[in-house]
Amino acid sequence: MKVFHTSQSLVEHLSKETRPIGMVPTMGALHLGHLSLIERALSENQTVLVSIFINPTQFDNKADLENYPINIETDLKKIEQLPGKIFVYTPKVKDVYGNLVASKSIDLGGLDQVMEGKKRSGHFQGVATVVVHFLKVFTPNHAYFGEKDFQQLRIIEHITQSLKLNTEIIGCPIIRERDGLAMSSRNNFLSSDQRKLASKIFKGLKFAKSNAKKESYNTLKKMVMDFFEKYDELNLDYFTIAHPKTLKEVDLKEPVDLGRGFIAAYLGKIRLIDNLDMS
Ligand code: PAJ
Repeated sequence: MKVFHTSQSLVEHLSKETRPIGMVPTMGALHLGHLSLIERALSENQTVLVSIFINPTQFDNKADLENYPINIETDLKKIEQLPGKIFVYTPKVKDVYGNLVASKSIDLGGLDQVMEGKKRSGHFQGVATVVVHFLKVFTPNHAYFGEKDFQQLRIIEHITQSLKLNTEIIGCPIIRERDGLAMSSRNNFLSSDQRKLASKIFKGLKFAKSNAKKESYNTLKKMVMDFFEKYDELNLDYFTIAHPKTLKEVDLKEPVDLGRGFIAAYLGKIRLIDNLDMS
C-alpha cells in the first residue's frame, strides 16, 4: 500500500503501473461495505486506487459535514490487510478544488430530481463534481460503487456515458449486518435502542416486496407507512418504488419489468437509506 496526498504525485506513479486500474472512491470511516468494493476491484484489476476524501460540496448540511467521522489511521490499517497493489489517495480540499470549493454544473439527466436529490439540495451536483474530477484525472479502467447508494450509482453511470469518460462503472451489492441493516458509517451514531430499531428498515423493504405485486401502489404505500407507524422512534422519510434505470416511480401491479424499493428513515436525527430489488 502506498499513500499519496497530491494528485500530481499519484498520477506520476500511476502512469508506471500495469493496467487495468480500478478505482474505489470513498469518504473514509471504512466498513465491510467499502472493503467489499476494494476486494472486488482487486480481483478485477492489477492496481487499485482508493480515495479517502470527505467531499465538502456534497453536504447540504454544515453540521453533517462537521460531524462526519474521520478515522484515517484505522482506515489505512484496514486497507493494508488486503492483498494486492493498492494506492491510497487522501488529499486536502485544496488538492481537489484549488481555491474554488464549489460544484460544477453537470447535467444529471433529471435523475437528481427524485428521492435523495429532492431531499438534499445540491448533493448530487457535489458528488458528480468530485467523481468526474477523479475519473478525468486518474482515468481508471473501472470504478466501483455500492448499490447502497443506488441513486448515486445511477447518476454516475449516466454522467460517465454522457461525458464519454473511458471508465466502466461497476455496481456492487449492499453488504448488510446480520439483522439485515445495510452497513453505513452513520450506524455508529445510533444508540443501542436505535440500532435495534434500525433493522426494521430492511424488514420494511422485505415486507413491501412480499406485497408489491398483490396490492396497488397506493395501498402498498399506506401499508408500508402503517408498518413504520408502530415504531415511535423510527420515522419514515419516504418509501418509493422506482425503475432502476430511469428512477421514475412504477406500480408493480401494472405490467412493468423492473422495480426497486427505496426507503429513507430517521432514527432521532440520524437519517438512514436502504433499497431492495422488488421485481
Ligand atoms: P461513501 O459513503 O464513503 O461510500 C463509498 C462507496 O461505498 C459508495 O459507492 C457506497 O455506495 C459504498 N457503500 C457504502 N456502504 C455500503 C454497503 N453497506 N454495501 C456496499 N457498498 C457500500 O458514497 C460516497 O462515499 C461519496 O458520495 C463518494 C462516491 C465517495 C463521492 O464523494
